[in-house]
Amino acid sequence: MNTLFLKNTTEDIKKAAAILTDGGLVAMPTETVYGLAADALNGEAVRRIFEAKGRPMDNPLIVHVAEFSDIERLHLVRSIPEKAVKLAQAFSPGPLTIIMEKGDVIPDEVSAGLDTVAIRIPSHPDAQRLLRSSGLALAAPSANTSGKPSPTTAQHVIDDMDGRIEAVLDGGACGVGVESTVITLATDIPRILRPGIITREEIEAVIGPIEVDKAVLNKLENNEKAASPGMKYKHYAPKARVILLRGSDEKYINYLNRLYARDKSIAALCYIEDVSKIHAPCITMGSETDEKQQAQALFDALRAVDELQGVKTVYAHCPSATGVGMALYNRLIRAAAFEVIDLPTKRVIGLTGQTGAGKSEVSRMLSEMGAVVISADEAAREAVEDSEVKAMLCAAFGDVLKADGSLDRRLVAQIAFSKPGRTAVLNAITHPKIASIMLSKAETADADTVFFDASQLFEARMEVYCDRVIGVIADEAIRMERLLMRDGISREDVALRMSAQFDEGFFLSFCNDILYNNGSLRELSEEVDKLYERSVNR
Ligand code: TXA
Ligand code: MG
Repeated sequence: MNTLFLKNTTEDIKKAAAILTDGGLVAMPTETVYGLAADALNGEAVRRIFEAKGRPMDNPLIVHVAEFSDIERLHLVRSIPEKAVKLAQAFSPGPLTIIMEKGDVIPDEVSAGLDTVAIRIPSHPDAQRLLRSSGLALAAPSANTSGKPSPTTAQHVIDDMDGRIEAVLDGGACGVGVESTVITLATDIPRILRPGIITREEIEAVIGPIEVDKAVLNKLENNEKAASPGMKYKHYAPKARVILLRGSDEKYINYLNRLYARDKSIAALCYIEDVSKIHAPCITMGSETDEKQQAQALFDALRAVDELQGVKTVYAHCPSATGVGMALYNRLIRAAAFEVIDLPTKRVIGLTGQTGAGKSEVSRMLSEMGAVVISADEAAREAVEDSEVKAMLCAAFGDVLKADGSLDRRLVAQIAFSKPGRTAVLNAITHPKIASIMLSKAETADADTVFFDASQLFEARMEVYCDRVIGVIADEAIRMERLLMRDGISREDVALRMSAQFDEGFFLSFCNDILYNNGSLRELSEEVDKLYERSVNR
């Protein structure tokens, strides 16, 4: 099929109307996103919408009309609740969709077998002209391939729908950018099923208290039924993995820059203000202080992610879920398949270093000065007693539990170090748990600043949470002698252990502060004193 590209001239609008009257499909601009329209009362035409989008048949469509009186005139609903009248007076035409009990004329294809129907009166002038010119009620979901971000330009529609629909009506970029607020009046208390630019607070000011459906902000369990079928599907996702980072601007930027220093396959989905501070490639989603602009930019930004070459993971700054932010959060959390990382609220200072360099001495000195030092070794002992971690270790290494169900740590170590590659498997299982234990200890610590004492700080990628990282290093010969004395193992074994670690150059490039510990403990202690003053009592 050759998809016609129509402009919003009187002549082209007539052409579009004629296509719709004949049972064809036209993508039309609305103030929110582009919709894929068909005659709502023609079940055959509506079925083609589902085919073109690849949309599951159990996901109902919104019926669009030019004005409120059309709802009664066309018998679209059983009866019009008083609250619908109030909402329409306040917000119509505009980005609000109201669900009511459906009238008999609504085909099953539109309502997907439910006994309700969603109605919306768009304010976009071209949508209005098309509705009036055709005289039809138009069923129209967003004009994207099912699962992709909704289209906010005619080009987005072409990217998804070229050759699958009769025409696209180009009305420029959509002003709102996220889909309409969907509210149902078919429940005892009205309930938001999908947040949009018209906020809960604005609606409550008109009709009193309403609820927000659980699925708006939370992931539904497999056995839970979605009030709005569209909310149960993975949605808005680009091909790259999206992860939300929840935390301050400073922590977000720090996380990205530290990660990007070691991993060039990441990008940022961030606010305009942060671009100059982030080293990774950035896609912007509007200004930090303008949520409406963020809404307008969001889907274009998500689509742009797929154009980045070599990017595997995109880290988005998580919006707060209030006001218009609820709509942004609702879309982003789905694009991220509910993957969110909480960044620490405390100042975190990493303490790491080469084996034998004296990190443990520094750690002890810091504790004696009253610093809160969170030990990775301790966290590791807790981590391996976690039931999920134990299950993963058994899956990787066979039965490694003792008779009492606790982990046989000696056996695990023996297996993990017996073959190259196995240590990496062990680390991939334990490191994330160790990090999460340390992060939660940081949150509950009675201090604004905490130290993460971790010889494997960089191996576990924990430096991304650190505001500063201290590296303790010493000359190779000195470390060799210390380890020979301390651990009583052979020179060869010490050399092997040392060679498995990052070299001095690595620490010099990735740490903020370097403590050279080639001399006496007293000298070290003086250095630690100074560093503590600098880093804690800033
Ligand atoms: O802004 C918008 O609402 C855009 C433009 C084109 O008008 N339309 C749109 O439609 O976003 P769509 O189909 O992509 O999303 C409609 C949402 C889906 O999540 C669907 O499950 C829900 O509304 N919905 C429709 N009818 C429903 C009903 N009777 N009961 C519960 N949810 C319903
Ligand atoms: Mg949609």
